[in-house]
Parts: sequence; C-alpha cells; structure tokens
Amino acid sequence: MARRRRILLGVSGGIAAYKALELVRLATAAGHAVRVVQTPASQRFIGAASFAALTGAPVLVDEFERDPARGAFPGDPQPDHDPLSHLELAANADIYVIAPASANTVAKLAAGLADNLLTSAALAATCPLLVAPAMNNHMWAHPATQDNVALLRARGVTVLEPPTGRLASTGEQGAGRLPEPRALLEAVEALTRPPLAAPSADLVGLRVLVTAGGTREPIDAVRFVGNRSSGRMGFALAAAAADLGAAVTVVAANVALPRDPRVAYVDVETAAELQDACAAAFGEADVLLMAAAVADFRPAASLAGKLKKAGEERLRVELERTPDILTGLAAVRRPDQTLVGFAAEHGDGALAYAREKLAHKGLDAIVVNDVARADIGFDAVHNEVTILTAGGETHVARASKAHVARAVLDVVAGLREPTAEAAGPAS
Ligand code: PMT
Repeated sequence: MARRRRILLGVSGGIAAYKALELVRLATAAGHAVRVVQTPASQRFIGAASFAALTGAPVLVDEFERDPARGAFPGDPQPDHDPLSHLELAANADIYVIAPASANTVAKLAAGLADNLLTSAALAATCPLLVAPAMNNHMWAHPATQDNVALLRARGVTVLEPPTGRLASTGEQGAGRLPEPRALLEAVEALTRPPLAAPSADLVGLRVLVTAGGTREPIDAVRFVGNRSSGRMGFALAAAAADLGAAVTVVAANVALPRDPRVAYVDVETAAELQDACAAAFGEADVLLMAAAVADFRPAASLAGKLKKAGEERLRVELERTPDILTGLAAVRRPDQTLVGFAAEHGDGALAYAREKLAHKGLDAIVVNDVARADIGFDAVHNEVTILTAGGETHVARASKAHVARAVLDVVAGLREPTAEAAGPAS
C-alpha cells in the first residue's frame, strides 16, 4: 500500500466536480486520508453528502462554520481545542489539491483573494499546492487565465495542463478537461513522495533525456499506425530524475498526461520527429532513458487527404522499416554518457533476447517488461521489470511506475559511480 498522505481537496464549481468523487474514492482506497472543502458554487454540481460518505469526514463550505472534526484528518486524533477550520486543515495537510479549479478560482488564487474557505485555505497552506484547472476551452485559452496560470507556476504552484478532448457543452472539443482521477492521484503521490533514502542515487547536475509515449505513423491525414503506450513510464522516469536533481528533457510522443513544471518537453508524433528531437538533444545529455515505444515500421507513403473506401474490399498498406533510433544514438555516444533502453518482450527467452539487445545496441542497461501482461507495461499504472546490465540483473516486482522509475535511476546512479580503479589509488 502507498504511504498514507493527508490530502486536502478543494472542489470549485464546474461540471468536472463529479470526477473529484472518483479521485476521493481512489485516494481513500489507496490508504490516504482525505478532507474536502467546497465552494458554494461547486455544491450546485455535487453535494457535500457524497464527499462526506466517501471520505468518512465532515465537508466544509463556510469559513465561519466550526469543523466537527477540529481540523483532523480521518485516522488522526482530534485536538482538545477548537481551531479555525481553514487554518487547521491546511496546516495538517501533506498536499492541497484544488480539482476542479474553475477559471474564477484560478483567478482568485493568482490574485491572492481569500473570499471563501477554499481560497482562504490556499493562502494559509504551506504544503505543496496542486491545481487542476477544468473549464471551457476558450476560457482556458484566454490570456487572463493563461497569465494567472503562469503567475501561479512562477510561485511554485503545480498547475496541471488540462487534457484536450470532449468538453461538457454539447459538441465542444478542446483543452479544458480535468485530468482523469487516476492521473490526478499519480500527480498527488509524485508531489508528496519522500526524498530518496539512498544518497548514492543523486543525479544533481546531470542532464537526463527521456523519451516517452508511442509514435504514430500516418497512413493518411486522419489514420495512423500506432501503439498503446500512454507515456506513464517515461513521465515517471522524468519525475524521478527531477526529484534527484537532474535537469530533465522529455521527448513526448503523443502523451496526454499532466506535465511536470520541472521538466522541459518536446512534443512529437512520428518516429522521424522523435529521431530529430533526440538527435538535437542527445549531445547535451549525460543520461538517455529510452522508454518510448517507437514504431518499427511505417507506411511507405502516406496520403495527403483521407483515403477513399468506395469500391474497396481490401486495402494494402505497404510498410517500410524505421531507423533504430537508439542504435543510431549509441553509435555516436561519448564514453561518459549512460544509455538505457527498454525492451518490450514476452514469452520464453525474453531475458536472453533482451540481453542480446543490450549488447548489439551498445547500451549500458536495458529494462525488460513483459508486454503480454495487461496489469503492467503498456497503458498500465504499474510495471514489473528486470534491469539488465553487463554486470548483472535487478528484478523489480510489480509496483507503481514511479517506484520502478526510482529503481531504474538507482541502477543508472550505480553505473555512473566511479569504480575504485578509475578513481585512482586511495591516499
Ligand atoms: O508508456 P507506457 O504506457 O507507460 O508503457 C511503457 C512501455 C511498455 C512502452 C515501456 O516500458 C517500454 O517497454 N518501452 C519500449 C517499447 C519498445 O519499443 O520496445 P522494443 O523492444 O521494441 O525496442 C527496444 C528499444 O529500442 C526501446 O528502448 C525503444 O525505444 C528503442 N527503439 C525501438 C524501435 C526504433 N525504431 N527505435 C528505437 O530507438
């Protein structure tokens, strides 16, 4: 079970408030203690009784209302005195998550207003603040909202990028959705992760290049050959490397996950674009972590318009090999760079086959995952891997991708430690 966090959840007014219920359900199922504060407007969408039932704790809306739980989180003892609710809840929280954050609430947070319990608690909070905006796409794109978001980020607030897709108003499409509750919980756990116990895995001062997601190779203007990579593994590696002090760049192939403000992103679609982006960044990198699922084949020709199906019973799409990007980078590597590949394998002989890849691709380590399993690997929240190096192998049992990422970086840190021989004789 994950380490228990005290999560203060602020719910503001918007249709996406219904997703906050699922976030609470997932968070409590993962063993976290959750308290909820709501704006009056949010109660037009979801009532306090639903949050109270899921959290097992009173829900607060009014600043002048006393908290029957006296600012305690479920499972914690209540103080003898009767504290001010917004101060005590914020003081006891490990993280304050505002999801959904309406355009109005984002603006109030940026202006430092404290006109309701949610915004007062935000001003009082000294714990990490995670804001997940959700609104109409035009409201999100408005310069006022974008300025407010930039100001909050500059102050150290983590503001998640709202994914693009169908919005609440009929027929509306665009950026403004609340991230899925599971992604929100992942962001909460990542922001409240304790510092790594082993100081040996310090990456301070290193530049880490990560690839994430799955490439899409166009057949025509609307169709593509792709794969099920979500980008979670690559993004978890990036977050873990940033936690350890590295300067991180992610080349993201079609990843719709929340962005980490500490990380630089280059968005790409195809294997060719991913190759170009990697070629541009590789020279500067000390470590390459190649978690992207890159197409091995792409349509030899792609149509500019949309393929017509009239009269066709069968369609042949000729595919051609894509270059092996990792092998290409390994061929021009410097000896001081550390290269880690991933191997999507299954069946008997997976490790032997991956060990062969380690050698012929010229890598320092390869992370093998079984892509035949639905509970790990592609588009799963967890992974289970074996990390192969020239000197041995480390098995990491099924765990969150954040945990697996830490284990990969421990191996990287170990590979980069100077050997006694290289360090010279002890004085
Ligand atoms: O994104 P998630 O949903 O979290 O899923 C994570 C993952 C399953 C995609 C990830 O853990 C993983 O296994 N990524 C590598 C997938 C893959 O393409 O494996 P491969 O065995 O086909 O390729 C071996 C290595 O060569 C990989 O590092 C790959 O990035 C690289 N490669 C592959 C083909 C190609 N043309 N160029 C490459 O550089």
